[in-house]
Amino acid sequence: MRLEITGLTKRYGKQAALNDLNLTIHEGGVLVLIGPSGGGKSTLLRVIGGLETPDSGTVTLHGERLPVTESGLLAYRRANGFLFQQFNLFPHLDALRNLTLPLETVHGQTPEQAKATAEEALERFGLLAHAHKRPAELSGGQQQRVGIARAVASKPRVLFLDEPTSALDPEMTAEVLELVQELAEGGQRIVLSTHEMGFARAVADQVAFLAEGKVIESGPPREWFENPASEHARRFLSKVLRYL
Ligand SMILES: Nc1ncnc2c1ncn2[C@@H]1O[C@H](COP(=O)(O)OP(=O)(O)OP(=O)(O)O)[C@@H](O)[C@H]1O
Ligand SMILES: [Mg+2]
Repeated sequence: MRLEITGLTKRYGKQAALNDLNLTIHEGGVLVLIGPSGGGKSTLLRVIGGLETPDSGTVTLHGERLPVTESGLLAYRRANGFLFQQFNLFPHLDALRNLTLPLETVHGQTPEQAKATAEEALERFGLLAHAHKRPAELSGGQQQRVGIARAVASKPRVLFLDEPTSALDPEMTAEVLELVQELAEGGQRIVLSTHEMGFARAVADQVAFLAEGKVIESGPPREWFENPASEHARRFLSKVLRYL
């Protein structure tokens, strides 16, 4: 993944969610954003994903500047995939239709193509048996896996996951984490935020530590977890790793 972010600022009223944030990533398929609550992880994901426009600064992903026009942003969003921590699926539609609907309406596939694509994605993640269940008939972990299947069915350039496991119990968390790891091993480029440090360490090629709207430091997880450079990251890690 090649990602270059300079001077990125996003304000909500007086509050700067991103405050002159800089980040350069040259390599690695999976970038994991970690850091304290309110640090700006979700905002950064939404901005890099083209769901929200920054007040200032630039984002260049694979040599392409983030579009600024509405139509440019729409095309950019379509080329990527998203999953948020919960409420990702249409509650009144079964799993299969949750996948086929965006393939037809957003990606222009015919109903036949969409069905084939959707079934392939569900099968890939062992979810075909649940194709005709509505979200309420699925476990939280299964719902998130269907959500990920939907997000990757259209072969996104980058998959953005915002705390995909935060609403799940440990067993379901493990199911989702395994799936993400499998996607990463299959070459899917992923940017995700998580509070699961064990997972972050296992799946990340690069970690960025965000606090107060800035990237305090970034680097490969092994070195970073062993030996963070900043006092801020050291304090954070000593707090969150205490109970592992
Ligand atoms: N839509 C919004 N309107 C107003 N303020 C917002 C909005 N979204 C985020 N903020 C503020 O911006 C700051 C960064 O929020 P953000 O959600 O990006 O943090 P985060 O790192 O994802 O936190 P968490 O780990 O709790 O998910 C916070 O202070 C938050 O209150
Ligand atoms: Mg968040």
